[in-house]
Amino acid sequence: MAVSGRKKGPVSPAVAGPVAVYPGSFDPITNGHLDIVKRALAVFPRVVVAVAFNPNKDSSLFTAEERVATIREALVEFGDRIEVDTFSGLLVDYAKRIEAAVVVRGLRAVSDFEYEFQMTMMNRHLAPAIETVFLMAGAQYFYTSSRLVKEVALFGGDVRAHVPPAVRRRLAAKLGTRLGRGRKRR
Ligand code: PNS
Repeated sequence: MAVSGRKKGPVSPAVAGPVAVYPGSFDPITNGHLDIVKRALAVFPRVVVAVAFNPNKDSSLFTAEERVATIREALVEFGDRIEVDTFSGLLVDYAKRIEAAVVVRGLRAVSDFEYEFQMTMMNRHLAPAIETVFLMAGAQYFYTSSRLVKEVALFGGDVRAHVPPAVRRRLAAKLGTRLGRGRKRR
């Protein structure tokens, strides 16, 4: 089930050229992810940011709808060149459905490589025609991750450098914390 309401099939042909899909959990999207989207837009005319969700068992902090809404808000300046969608099931099946020729993934450090390499090889085995390209995140995002952002925000730490303002607000609301100034007293 798609939760973003986009029509099934290829993405809007409003901008010509190959479609790149940037998949992830984005729970929540970080400035590191946004950096990768912007770098992808420097290479590909159109990028679909695809939020992975599991309709049966999703342990994400944010719902797929919340993740989509936040990503749209953060990328509004790119207009037609960005589409934000959701998918469940295999990434390669989704990529074929929207006629994306390329999967984009971000790398921060060598430690990301092993996991990314295995995923790429499995995707290549499943769908040899779909190419995965890696983009290096800016050095300032070396240690930014959704997992650490959630942990820091949970304990009232300052995540301003790591997430856009909309995510910071949503984190505070979801976790019942103040914006980077300690947990709300109950
Ligand atoms: O942001 P993440 O959690 O590193 O993203 C991982 C994601 C969602 C891209 C990956 O788990 C995925 O593609 N999931 C969809 C299911 C799938 O295709 N699995 C096989 C990949 S080898």
